[in-house]
Amino acid sequence: MRFFSECGDFFREYRRHVRTTGAILPSSRFLAHALASELRKPRGPSRILEVGPGTGSVTTAILRELHPADRLDLVELNGRFIAYLQRRFDEEWLFHFHRDQVRLIHSAVEALPGEEIYDLIVSSLPLNNFSVAQVRDVFRAYRRLLRPGGTLTYFEYVFIRQLKTPFVGRRERRRLYRIGRLVGRYIESYQVRREQVFMNVPPAIVRHLHLKPVSSDAEMIGCPTGFQRGGSAPVEKD
Ligand SMILES: C[S@@+](CC[C@H](N)C(=O)[O-])C[C@H]1O[C@@H](n2cnc3c(N)ncnc32)[C@H](O)[C@@H]1O
Repeated sequence: MRFFSECGDFFREYRRHVRTTGAILPSSRFLAHALASELRKPRGPSRILEVGPGTGSVTTAILRELHPADRLDLVELNGRFIAYLQRRFDEEWLFHFHRDQVRLIHSAVEALPGEEIYDLIVSSLPLNNFSVAQVRDVFRAYRRLLRPGGTLTYFEYVFIRQLKTPFVGRRERRRLYRIGRLVGRYIESYQVRREQVFMNVPPAIVRHLHLKPVSSDAEMIGCPTGFQRGGSAPVEKD
């Protein structure tokens, strides 16, 4: 019953904010499980950031893996989703149990202050709906906020750019192409693992990136053209 009302609430927000919500349904539990997979690895107390929690489908999977000394921040742009999540923390057992470890932040992730705060970032942002400049700002924020050796986990829908491209005008095609190129450079440079999730509407690829490798990682992975390794922001040619 809760699942259907969650889908209804999510769909309403999709109609209000098509571009930033980016999906008609919340992520399936299979996709949420894959997005939380880094938390299942052996690790010490961690600071975790979830970006774009929406109604909390991925949050649920993260909370199941939370250790007692972990801290989880949820950053969400849409105030209605913030209110929805607040209700879940007040009313649902799993959410209520972890409420003292969690902070709800009503903001765009690009506007979060600070540097090298998080060990893990789990993101559900619909990057293909954003401007090229915003995608660039989002990745810069991830690099700034991640600690060296930290992991960014995010997903994209399978072939979504390729499927959209033939049906859109020149400007839109160019935007999608530039986003593909920009994100592609991050993937080429920093991806350490990927998994496909077919049990989702639509199917998705979950990517895990070491955006800010510790120095030994950096030597192993190599430094491709277009990016500058180390603590500074990458040089992105576009
Ligand atoms: C595709 S939905 C994912 C929702 C949920 N995590 C799930 O998987 O079902 C994207 C979410 O990102 C939020 N969002 C969009 N742009 C954002 C930004 N710049 N910073 C933080 N959240 C953002 C939207 O409001 C929405 O809740």
